[in-house]
Amino acid sequence: MSAVVYFSSASRNTERFVEHCDFPSCGVNVFRIPLQPNAAPLNVREPYIIIVPTYGGGDARKAVPPQVKRFLNDPANREWIRGVIASGNTNFGEAYAAAGPIISRKCHVPLMYRFELMGIQEDVHAVREGVRRFFIQSPTDRKTLQ
Ligand SMILES: Cc1cc2nc3c(=O)[nH]c(=O)nc-3n(C[C@H](O)[C@H](O)[C@H](O)COP(=O)(O)O)c2cc1C
Repeated sequence: MSAVVYFSSASRNTERFVEHCDFPSCGVNVFRIPLQPNAAPLNVREPYIIIVPTYGGGDARKAVPPQVKRFLNDPANREWIRGVIASGNTNFGEAYAAAGPIISRKCHVPLMYRFELMGIQEDVHAVREGVRRFFIQSPTDRKTLQ
């Protein structure tokens, strides 16, 4: 089994990107980290790649949305992360998609891709194919990825 886990705020850019990728049609499950802080927490128990927009406006401490931190702070969720894809807006300069390297470092997984806002056709194609191939080629055992 393999999955994509994503977070998207009320502006829904990441939600639209993930929809365009149509992961279920290539056998990849999709889970959404809840936006509302009082929602039931998401629990994922299969290998996944996380897709995360960057917030914080350049403040590295706030680059990863709190909902995503909460999800990844649960060791049972963190155990299954295999890679990170980050989005943002290039107007933020050096802080562009900064959530990506932060999660990559903290969770010891590769930063696989970055895209802007809801992505363009090229991004959708690259991510869809990349995720599909990654899960075909990578055994589910975390140790083999490092
Ligand atoms: C308050 C705010 C702060 C943001 N800070 C950053 C940032 O530091 N770096 C970046 O690359 N993008 C930043 N962005 C852009 C978002 O990452 C981008 O709009 C993203 O597509 C939002 O995804 P979503 O609509 O799925 O939540 C920020 C956006 C907002 C509204």
